[in-house]
Amino acid sequence: MNQVPRSHLVGVALAPVALACGLLAAGCARGEAHAIPTGEQLYAACESCHGARGEGNVELSAPKLAGLPAWYLTRQLQRFKDGTRGAHPDDEKGLRMRAMARQMMSDAEVEAVVTYVAAMPDVDVILTLPEPDLNAGQADFAACAVCHGEKGEGNESIMAPRIAGLNDWYVAAQIRKYRTGIRGGAEGDDVGAAMREMANKAVAPERINNLAAYIQRLPG
Ligand code: HEC
Ligand code: HEC
Repeated sequence: MNQVPRSHLVGVALAPVALACGLLAAGCARGEAHAIPTGEQLYAACESCHGARGEGNVELSAPKLAGLPAWYLTRQLQRFKDGTRGAHPDDEKGLRMRAMARQMMSDAEVEAVVTYVAAMPDVDVILTLPEPDLNAGQADFAACAVCHGEKGEGNESIMAPRIAGLNDWYVAAQIRKYRTGIRGGAEGDDVGAAMREMANKAVAPERINNLAAYIQRLPG
């Protein structure tokens, strides 16, 4: 059973792999010893939502991935997998992504797809929030810069990701999710908890869109 070549299991979608993994748990545990699909092959399963260039898709609420660093991508995929992110019953969009992440069986596969995504050139995304007050956004951003950097470039040492250039609609949605604990509220999520506190303290609800629009325009 353990001899089933992994190449037979590699399809464009990851579903068959996950199914086989369920049936062949022992083989899967040793999965890393076998050839794994390339990051590009694995990304085929992500493309329908996140786009071929990692540009994201507002209709599907799937954010842009291009421009995000490998350490953060890895961490988030792990979090979707273990339920620290995307498992809250009210997190409709997180649940969509969680289903995907759970199909990623091995650390080696996560690493392969992350290497591929992290190498994508950054892409500009269209602004979606109408008539933001960018001055208000800039003023509120000062509190965020402490962790995310003056240009929103991120700071790995405190696990604060790059946020510059993220989709405005996505940033606004994440801030709202942190505020209610739909994100960052899971037990043991200390890092998320820090961000939750900021989302509640540093910006008033009616100013979230301004802040998100300002962040999307940051060059990083
Ligand atoms: C069914 C659509 C769908 C597919 C397929 C999908 N995703 Fe997602 N992904 C989403 C959605 C929706 C979100 C936003 C979740 C949220 O709002 O918290 C997301 C979020 C993410 C995030 C978090 C981004 C951030 O800035 O924190 C990463 C990383 C990610 N996806 C990677 C992937 C990878 C890699 C794949 C392929 C293995 C993939 N996704 C496949 C829908 C999808
Ligand atoms: C105390 C440090 C700290 C401050 C200040 C802070 N953040 Fe964060 N932020 C974090 C950390 C850590 C994470 C990663 C949390 C996680 O993995 O869920 C994060 C995550 C985020 C994300 C999710 C990014 C993504 O790709 O999904 C957004 C958006 C964000 N912060 C926006 C802000 C904004 C806007 C402010 C200012 C109002 C702010 N942050 C202030 C630490 C901070």
